[in-house]
Amino acid sequence: MVRKTPHETLRDEEKVVRYLKLDIKNQAKVQQLSDLIFGKDYASIEVDADNEEVWIACLDEKPIGFCKYLFNQTNRYYNVKLTDQVYSVLDLVAVLPNYRGHGIATKLAKLVMKGEQENPVFAVAWEITGNAAVLGVFKALGFRFKDNLGHIWKQQCLNNEFQCPAKKDECICTAALYSTV
Ligand SMILES: CC(C)(COP(=O)(O)OP(=O)(O)OC[C@H]1O[C@@H](n2cnc3c(N)ncnc32)[C@H](O)[C@@H]1OP(=O)(O)O)[C@@H](O)C(=O)NCCC(=O)NCCS
Repeated sequence: MVRKTPHETLRDEEKVVRYLKLDIKNQAKVQQLSDLIFGKDYASIEVDADNEEVWIACLDEKPIGFCKYLFNQTNRYYNVKLTDQVYSVLDLVAVLPNYRGHGIATKLAKLVMKGEQENPVFAVAWEITGNAAVLGVFKALGFRFKDNLGHIWKQQCLNNEFQCPAKKDECICTAALYSTV
């Protein structure tokens, strides 16, 4: 694993990223990670939530990335009707900036989707002014573009229901829908 932080050099190849299911010990740290990357109060990270699974990537016991997966879903997703079938969603995937570009998000997404057999899986790309970094991850997992969903987070963002890190005077984030079917 090659990486660089303010305190370390690129010569720390021996350090290995561990992938594990979220446990109670890491719950608060992963919540902080989610708040940092997606904005405070955007998502809740819980060990035992119904129909959810969270996997984390750790380096030296520190969570550096996570992926949240929703399964057995029947309701709308952010008020968008995705399908009439029972479905799953690759809901969130995030890696701390210093550790990006090493395949960590792809590995996390593969782990959460490993048990998926029958139901269609959807994923939503977070586009900030039209750009999304997650498309390589989706491609590696066989997702295909389905639709532009537009400003699905706008109302919650403007109501300050969460603190979007990209927020300007107006909502600049849009969503693009991908799916395995
Ligand atoms: C998207 C994100 C999770 C990717 O994490 P990562 O660990 O760097 O991803 P990977 O290393 O597994 O990269 C997978 C592929 O995407 C490509 N990729 C990663 N970041 C990219 C970027 N900013 N622009 C273009 N391509 C990118 C990689 O090159 C790789 O493709 P390859 O296999 O053909 O080389 C990370 O950038 C992030 O946390 N972003 C903020 C949160 C976010 O937008 N999450 C997605 C919405 S839920």
